[in-house]
Amino acid sequence: MTPPQINGDRLLARLDAFAAIGATPGGGVNRQALTRGDRKARALLTALSKARGFSVFQDDMANLFIRMEGSDGSLPPLLIGSHLDSQPAGGRFDGALGTLTAFEVLESLADAGFVPPRPVEVVAWTNEEGCRFAPGCMGARAFVEGNIPAEWEGLRAVDDGALFNDERLATVAALAPDLGHRKLGFPVIAYLELHIEQGPSLEREGIPVGIVTGVQGTRWLEVEFEGQTAHAGTTALEYRRDPLKALTAALAALYATVMSENAEARFTVGRIAVTPGSVNAIPATASCTIDLRHPQADVLDRLEESIRARLAEAAEAEAVSVAIRKTVDMAPVTFADDLISALQIAAQKAAFRTRSMISGAFHDALFLAGHAPSAMIFVPCRDGLSHNEAEYVNPEDSVAGARMFLASVLELLR
Ligand code: GLV
Ligand code: MN
Ligand code: MN
Repeated sequence: MTPPQINGDRLLARLDAFAAIGATPGGGVNRQALTRGDRKARALLTALSKARGFSVFQDDMANLFIRMEGSDGSLPPLLIGSHLDSQPAGGRFDGALGTLTAFEVLESLADAGFVPPRPVEVVAWTNEEGCRFAPGCMGARAFVEGNIPAEWEGLRAVDDGALFNDERLATVAALAPDLGHRKLGFPVIAYLELHIEQGPSLEREGIPVGIVTGVQGTRWLEVEFEGQTAHAGTTALEYRRDPLKALTAALAALYATVMSENAEARFTVGRIAVTPGSVNAIPATASCTIDLRHPQADVLDRLEESIRARLAEAAEAEAVSVAIRKTVDMAPVTFADDLISALQIAAQKAAFRTRSMISGAFHDALFLAGHAPSAMIFVPCRDGLSHNEAEYVNPEDSVAGARMFLASVLELLR
């Protein structure tokens, strides 16, 4: 038997085919979770899998699994994959590269007639991004918890107000006639995910492969100031209870301090809204999201506390109220040493230069680490740019990443 080989042209053609689903005029993709585009991408992956003779399954969260049988089919599978959903103005590689690389590995094993000692399964997790329905990584989290949290039932989509539960059921139903059903949380021996770095280190240092040793923590807050809407022309300063004034004052203070005083912290406001949104009325409410990240949980605690205090101070100064809801609390994780060592051995054997790194982005692997030993491989992306339509990975880097991923899978199957 010739050893399994990545077919680089096939991988690159697949990336193009998936980038066409939800393609935006700006060269990126808008394929947000549980939309028609997301369903189309799942259908394409299912069709490709069936054409290769792999069996395909989904669970109640619409997580998609593609199975290559092993010589002992009773053993828990090695799980490899990523996600197919995107940001609203997202790139072609975030998630898709990892999912299609995992699928390319399955195909390359099949091409070589390689029968793994245990099953290998590719997974496409549902709603990694969390932008249409918060939180992110819903599919991975429900899988690890073994059930769908009750509080997700009534969630509504940020874009069109669709109910999460309706969209989930419709997505499952779209492929149900063709697929087997899986229970959430079945045992797996390990989980491995490839992703673009979404930061500049690998490109700057000219290193093709990052071995990810852990993921920093993330918290999302939804903040709403409520004051009193009133006439823009007649309401003097002392009569105003302006929630936008409170919000902008708080944000100015937070922008001036959070990141400049904590080099490793990341503070982002990605969405802001006022009601009723009239040119000649003081707003009734002013709201925003806050995305806060840091590698250490205790520092995140302190930062969150000081952010809450700033928001409360600003509310008091304008005689408005503020409500803060935490929608995401992802603790930092450290990946399994054994798995990281296996990746280092694979890289040595395949002669790849590597660098260890912590992920600034969250990933499905962060949750899977609570279920089975998990790890990740990063590949460089141009200018470190991601969550942007211009996101780009050199074809050579995509193919090198896939070779490293195949070498890692073979090492884990030994
Ligand atoms: C994932 O998309 C993240 O925001 O880290
Ligand atoms: Mn991603
Ligand atoms: Mn992303």
